[in-house]
Amino acid sequence: MDKSKLKEQSEVIRQAFGYIDRFKNELFVIKIDDILISNPLFPILIKDLVLLHRMGIRIILVPGARTRIDEVLKTYNVSCSTINGIRISPPESIPFIKMAAFDVSNNIMTMLAECEAHAVIGNWVRARSIGVRNGINYQSSGTVERLQIDILNNVLEDGLIPIFPNIGWSGKGKPYNLSSNELALTLSIELKAAKLFFVTDKGGIHQGEYKIPDGAFVTGEGIISQLNREQAQEFLDLNSSDSYDESLELVSLGLEACNLGVKRVHIVDGHIEGMILKEIFSNRGLGTMIYGNQHENIRKMTHSDIPEVLRMMHPAVEDKILIPRTASDLEKKIKDFIVYEVDGTVHGCGALHKYGQQGEIAAIVVDEMYINAGIGKKIVSYLMEKALAMKLKQVFLLTTQTSDWFSQLGFVQGEISDLPKEKQKTYNYDRNSLVFFYKFPRNNGNRYLSQY
Ligand SMILES: CC(C)(COP(=O)(O)OP(=O)(O)OC[C@H]1O[C@@H](n2cnc3c(N)ncnc32)[C@H](O)[C@@H]1OP(=O)(O)O)[C@@H](O)C(=O)NCCC(=O)NCCS
Repeated sequence: MDKSKLKEQSEVIRQAFGYIDRFKNELFVIKIDDILISNPLFPILIKDLVLLHRMGIRIILVPGARTRIDEVLKTYNVSCSTINGIRISPPESIPFIKMAAFDVSNNIMTMLAECEAHAVIGNWVRARSIGVRNGINYQSSGTVERLQIDILNNVLEDGLIPIFPNIGWSGKGKPYNLSSNELALTLSIELKAAKLFFVTDKGGIHQGEYKIPDGAFVTGEGIISQLNREQAQEFLDLNSSDSYDESLELVSLGLEACNLGVKRVHIVDGHIEGMILKEIFSNRGLGTMIYGNQHENIRKMTHSDIPEVLRMMHPAVEDKILIPRTASDLEKKIKDFIVYEVDGTVHGCGALHKYGQQGEIAAIVVDEMYINAGIGKKIVSYLMEKALAMKLKQVFLLTTQTSDWFSQLGFVQGEISDLPKEKQKTYNYDRNSLVFFYKFPRNNGNRYLSQY
């Protein structure tokens, strides 16, 4: 196997290990579009879910049944209209909708059984009628009133995978047709899920014609990779529309989930093999993630980060961009170093060394797999804030090949003689680095940050 492929694989395995402990005993609610069942890769998706379950992740499945319901209604010649994505269910359609919903759930239960996973379908959802809204009578279409949380927790505790058909019952046992998206949302909020997945046949949110909020990351394939809560709200505001739009509905549900405590919502493509594992076990998944907690984080470097930091620096050292450093060099200056981590995996680092009233920014590096995502700028910005907090008057750095980048960040080229005396003594004339400075304006605590 060629070296770069091997490196990529070991990186993925390393990231996966980082996540396994993190998600043990956490709950994932997974809504799956039933159209995916006929996909040849569907049994693999089920196997992946069983794998997650075996690793100690608690799982709830909410199969959508739209396609199957359409088929059954057509077979029995029952017609239903849909308004704003909600099916209007006349009472005579309910037996067929129930039949289709349970058929889909049974199918999934059978596939789980084939993988030796134990699942259970239950009537744990109390529902009520949507009623008449804006003059439209939704008839036997319902909304979730409450869930039997205690029973569900026991079921999960027993290591079973609960499956929720999109049917709920009134206190008197009257069945209602529910939106499985809404059901998945309520389950994730009420049971405090770590993740809510929408596994769809369209995948993550495509940029398409949508207006994209500033700072939202769009992949080369045009998928909006991540939206924090503010960006998700901005996305909805920028693209608000009177007509029903599935992508907007999913972002809106994702935002609601995050606003009410779900940590992450992932919208992924069920046609891609291993998509769900990749989304969970690598920091940059293939779908769209909406997140409510602080996803990215800069913190002090610890001893256990050192091997990872050295690995990250290696390519830049080979290219003579960075000076070589050993583990013991890093140990000695550990207090000066910070790392940028995503979900417990280090993606970048940097250091601020103090020389009297000046500071040196050094060892800035971003993992090759994550360049051009704004991480480098965040690291520099953080170190500049740190320098301000330390009341340093000026920050300098030495660079051979990254001068344009630092110029863009406001640094200005200077002379070796402007460096602190101590630094001048160790200046390596063979390396012939360029010297850049940033002088903090007086009486302006946060001036550097305002440049972003
Ligand atoms: C330089 C480095 C830290 C930038 O980090 P990053 O997270 O990839 O960069 P950001 O996302 O914050 O910024 C990306 C922008 O910087 C530009 N950029 C990246 N490296 C650059 C370089 N060496 N020179 C000029 N511009 C550069 C990108 O083209 C991009 O420009 P755009 O915003 O106009 O598209 C990173 O590429 C890296 O680790 N390089 C190797 C080590 C290194 O050079 N360290 C500095 C030692 S002094």
